[in-house]
Formats: sequence, C-alpha cells, structure tokens
Amino acid sequence: MIATRTFVLRARAAPTDSRKLLASIGGDAHVEILAHTLMNAIFVAQSHRADVVVHLVLESTADYSRSIRFDAHAMHEIGGFDEAALLGKIARALDASRGMGKDEMRTVESGVSVRTSGFERVVQELAAEHQLFVMDPKGTPIREQAFDGNPCFVLTDHIPMPKNTLRGLARLGAKKLALGSRMLFASQCVVLIHNELDQR
Ligand SMILES: C[S@@+](CC[C@H](N)C(=O)[O-])C[C@H]1O[C@@H](n2cnc3c(N)ncnc32)[C@H](O)[C@@H]1O
Repeated sequence: MIATRTFVLRARAAPTDSRKLLASIGGDAHVEILAHTLMNAIFVAQSHRADVVVHLVLESTADYSRSIRFDAHAMHEIGGFDEAALLGKIARALDASRGMGKDEMRTVESGVSVRTSGFERVVQELAAEHQLFVMDPKGTPIREQAFDGNPCFVLTDHIPMPKNTLRGLARLGAKKLALGSRMLFASQCVVLIHNELDQR
C-alpha cells in the first residue's frame, strides 16, 4: 500500500531571491513550472490531496540552494491554487530564508519549511525512507513498475539532470521511470503519476 507520495522538483534555473523569482515569471527560467507542479501535486477539484509532500529545490543563487518542503497534510492555509498564490507562497519561503547559513532549516507556516540545503543532500536523506524514481522517458514504463511504501519521484525543470547526478541517484537506488516517450512538463508528469497510483 502507498502511504505518501513525495515529489522533488529540481529547478536549476529558479532564482532563490524572491524578487527575481517573481520578476522572472514567463521568462527563460520558466519559474511558473514551480507553481504548476505544486498545483498538480497537491490540488484536486474542490479539495486537496493530504498524502503528498513536495520539495522544490531552487538553485539559481548567490549563496545556497533553497529547498522548500510542502507537506499537504499539515498545511492549514493552503489558499488559492492560481500561479500568483502559489508563487507567492514560494516567495514567502525564500524571504524567510534570508540570511540563513548553510544547511539551516526554518518553518515558514504550518506544513511549509525552507532549508539552505541542495538537491544532493535532500535526495540523500529521502533515499533513507523512500524508493526513489527518477522520471525519464527512457526508463521503465510506469505501468510495469510495482509500488510499495512511500515512493519519491524526482523531476527537473528544462535543464537536464547532469550525468554525475544521475550516477549519484543510481547509487542511492533510484530507478528510472517513464510516462511514455513524449517529453512532458514536470507538472504534467505529476498528473500522470497521481493518475497511475490512484488506480492501483
Ligand atoms: C521538461 S522535462 C525536462 C526536459 C529536459 N530538457 C531534459 O532533457 O531532461 C521535465 C521533467 O519531466 C520529466 N519527463 C518529461 N517527460 C517524461 C516522460 N515521458 N517520462 C518520464 N519523465 C518525463 C523529465 O525527465 C524531467 O525531469
């Protein structure tokens, strides 16, 4: 039985400065993908999925990457699901992290926390309790994959995962998982993963 669905989105082009983040909506960094992924991971019509955790890792930074964790079960102020509301939540988490030293963590609001830890550290910790799946059109078709426990699905923005990161993920036991051969947005992958798991 699957208890929690965890998603990690590595957003290599996303600024960790909240003003730059908000100013780059619709630009080359494609930060709107963060909002779309959060929306599709957490929300369903007239409700939300309580069994979801999302980690957004923003990496365009002057100091440290920021990893923002959203635990839908503990979020009391979920608010709107429009892009502005969701990017506003991300921006508030970034503001809360100003001045933090490396590998510090701060609670932003119930269910939302921010860390100055990078992607490698976050996935290394997640690997201790989750089976990791790296989303990749060349992986095992999702319909042929058995799921158990707490799967964790790892995605990127438009910048591909470097080869040495993929090797590191493989060492953590990550399996490559495909949703067909067409290259999709990360947010679309999240919908298809939910749909597949909803039917198990
Ligand atoms: C826009 S894609 C990334 C495109 C990027 N240029 C690359 O080559 O990885 C965003 C994320 O969705 C995943 N993805 C896209 N289509 C997929 C598919 N058909 N099956 C599995 N994962 C997919 C990618 O692996 C990536 O993590």
